[in-house]
Amino acid sequence: MLQDYQLLRIPGPTPIPPSIQQAMMKPMIGHRDLETKKLVNSIRPGLKKIFGAEEEVAIISGSGTSGLEAAVVNAVNPGDEVLVIITGSFGDRFAQICEAYQLHVHKLHYEWGKAFIPEEIASFLASHPSIKAVFATYCETSTGVLNPIKELAKTIKQNSDALIIIDGVSCIGAVETKLDEWGIDLCVTGSQKAFMLPPGLTFIAGSKRAWNIIEKSNNPRFYLDLRKYRKAIQDNSTPFTPALSLLYGLEQSLMLLEKEQLHHVYKRHHVMKEMTRAAFKAIDIPLLTIDEDASPTVTAIKPDNFEADVLREMLKKEFGLILAGGQSKLKGKIFRIGHMGYSSPADILQIISLVELGLHKIGKINELGIGVRAAQQVYIQEE
Ligand SMILES: Cc1ncc(COP(=O)(O)O)c(C=O)c1O
Repeated sequence: MLQDYQLLRIPGPTPIPPSIQQAMMKPMIGHRDLETKKLVNSIRPGLKKIFGAEEEVAIISGSGTSGLEAAVVNAVNPGDEVLVIITGSFGDRFAQICEAYQLHVHKLHYEWGKAFIPEEIASFLASHPSIKAVFATYCETSTGVLNPIKELAKTIKQNSDALIIIDGVSCIGAVETKLDEWGIDLCVTGSQKAFMLPPGLTFIAGSKRAWNIIEKSNNPRFYLDLRKYRKAIQDNSTPFTPALSLLYGLEQSLMLLEKEQLHHVYKRHHVMKEMTRAAFKAIDIPLLTIDEDASPTVTAIKPDNFEADVLREMLKKEFGLILAGGQSKLKGKIFRIGHMGYSSPADILQIISLVELGLHKIGKINELGIGVRAAQQVYIQEE
């Protein structure tokens, strides 16, 4: 069997473009040297553009969860009333972080696989006027749902002064995000998803209002004190030794995204979503989410007549194709295809074609090519 071959198609970490791999192999530099200042300086505008943020974006060496924790520890205080909207496993995690910091947490649960309804959040806020912040997940990676963040921000702004704090780990850079225009206060993402980088960096963008609150907050914090990151980046620096190789990678990633142009990046992700969904509909295997709720970065499939993990294991063994399974209460019930970052319609055709072969092998379909054809047709229509 061909050794070391793998097709990593999980919703992050994603494959890494060769030019980013190369950029990350540059010789090490001193983190207080001019070279690092130049590097940070070249990264700043691109990051702001991706978030649609006027204020500087904080770069922390740490995984996405450290960014979520930074948002909590900087923006709210123990005892504060907050609302966490839970549409899946990562909404749950946001609530756990809030609880760890002894906030008074209200939770609004939605069925896993469905998007939240902004009007319901607005009416919850109307009956709980002391809520200081609302935490929501943009793409709920565990279900493949893209939640209506723009609409949420709009309804909250009309009804409440609560801060709007968003986990955008699995979609920022792949879907439109306009932090200032939409009225989001804090938005967090991680390097290993749409940015096409290895894990290890988290980015946090904030509104003017959020930064004012953060500057005044007396909450104890040290490594995750966002004030330090903001002050440092204004001087093209970082408060602690950053993951320098990842910063070189980030510089290249932002250049690739800039060259492609963000609206084309969003369109590419949209097309990949549509192709994937059309393929599974054509081969008659149920999708977890309805079209309106589906994320452009990850698709969850919920088979009703075979074990999701049997197919996954077979695809891995036979073809080196790695798909993600279900998390938490969806464990064993779904499989998920990541189509974000360094991923193109050509990859979707390959994935669907292999999935069809896998389904044929486990005796679930007879005819090959139905899904691939449906995906190809979508591609042609979308072009
Ligand atoms: C939506 C979302 N939030 C948070 C995280 C956690 O990020 P990390 O594993 O980098 O800490 C992930 C990771 O998959 C995610 O998809």
